[in-house]
Amino acid sequence: MVNESTLRNRLAEHGQEHLLRFWSDLSPSQQQELAADIASVDFPLFDRVMASLGAHPDDLDPDAFGVPHTLPERPTADLASTFARARELGQQMIRANRVAAMVVAGGQATRLGYDAPKGAYPIAPVSGRSLFQLHAESILGTSRRYECRVPWYVMTSTANHADTVELFEKASFFGLQPDDVRFFRQSMMPIADTDGKILLDRKHRVALAPNGHGGSLTALAENGMLDDMANRGVDYISYFQVDNPLVMPVDPLFLGLHAIERSEMSSLTMSKADDHEKVGHFVTVGGKLRVVEYTAFPPSLIGQRMPDGSRKYDLANIAVHVLNRGFVEGIVGDRAAVALPWYLANKSAPHIDLKTGRRVTPRKPNAIKAEMFVFDALALAERPMLLRAARHERFSPVKNPDGVDSVVSARRDLVRRAAAWLESGGVTVPRDPEGNPDCVLEISPLAAVDSEMLRERGVGGLSIEPGESRLID
Ligand code: UTP
Repeated sequence: MVNESTLRNRLAEHGQEHLLRFWSDLSPSQQQELAADIASVDFPLFDRVMASLGAHPDDLDPDAFGVPHTLPERPTADLASTFARARELGQQMIRANRVAAMVVAGGQATRLGYDAPKGAYPIAPVSGRSLFQLHAESILGTSRRYECRVPWYVMTSTANHADTVELFEKASFFGLQPDDVRFFRQSMMPIADTDGKILLDRKHRVALAPNGHGGSLTALAENGMLDDMANRGVDYISYFQVDNPLVMPVDPLFLGLHAIERSEMSSLTMSKADDHEKVGHFVTVGGKLRVVEYTAFPPSLIGQRMPDGSRKYDLANIAVHVLNRGFVEGIVGDRAAVALPWYLANKSAPHIDLKTGRRVTPRKPNAIKAEMFVFDALALAERPMLLRAARHERFSPVKNPDGVDSVVSARRDLVRRAAAWLESGGVTVPRDPEGNPDCVLEISPLAAVDSEMLRERGVGGLSIEPGESRLID
């Protein structure tokens, strides 16, 4: 039995008694659901985060900004032997089962407006493979190529956990060993109105949202995933986001450079597409590597140019990182020390109107959502390393149904990359007068995870007709 007065007293300590406004209208099972939601809230943490309202962590002084050092996409002559050694070392690290893949897939995919986990979205241009399947097969292809195990840690959130696990089970884990796929759930934070009063999503449900991809670090620890990694001998975590179908989940060169540079956390970066691309920027602030989101980037710096005319603040964050397991253990070991900053975003959130009891869906932002971002761990890392990568090879996020960063642009970019790989293997790809592939192409990650693997496989004899749809698997 749920004790109403205990609940009421607990909520009163934090000024949130209104969450029980409809208590007497609820059935016993609804009362239990509401009590469970309330029990899941870390009120002291929530109070601390709300107290910082107005003190945004990105209130940064533009004069303190600098441009970080990067390793180039292709090695210059003086780096050629380091890159060759790094690739070899990265392959050894993978072969020795020291590398795990980790995807963050706990987001709400609000912009895409898809009624299932975002990872289930059928993105591949010919086969309709989902984002999850592409990543799974890429990991499987890597483990076959290096004859090793690559465990995959999949972060979900309360809203999509059961659906995600079910879709993996139905797909027989896309060929991966079930024991090598570990699901873990991130924590949720309450959504509040602009006065810090927590909203009700239903009369019997608190409005909760995932606590941001920065929540992945504590979630790894809280769910025993760091111990699981230690038991398997995993030392390196290759981190990526579910919505980037071009990502290479396990990249030997990136891993090897990370190790050679003795970095604790490293990131891939690429030139911004244009001044106003909606990505975070890698900068140094007071000498420390940081990512500053586009929403918080000082406008006076956006258009700045170098003497040669190139963009000064040009390094986009594409959310591909390598983290040492020991580094993550160190920063989550004493949870108080993690102290990743919280970001408070204004959102429009459906909620129960406390006066009428009706559920309303405001068009304008009415609510505050608190999130942590994983890139803030860079500031805690020794010798963080930044490696440049080619956009057309590695990045095309699925955020929207169409337009920029969309299903349409990601499919286009998958076809363009497949065409380039095939051409590098000696295949003639029909192209239209603008130079775009005049065909729909898809390369299964089981056939090749990069152009080198495709060339090794030998595709020179293939012929592709204009207008054809072709799957290479
Ligand atoms: P986004 O911030 O783009 O969010 O997440 P989203 O859920 O995909 O889409 P919108 O903003 O609601 O439209 C980038 C990546 O981080 C993950 C997402 O699943 C995606 O892979 N993420 C985001 C989490 O895992 N947890 C979070 O709390 C937030």
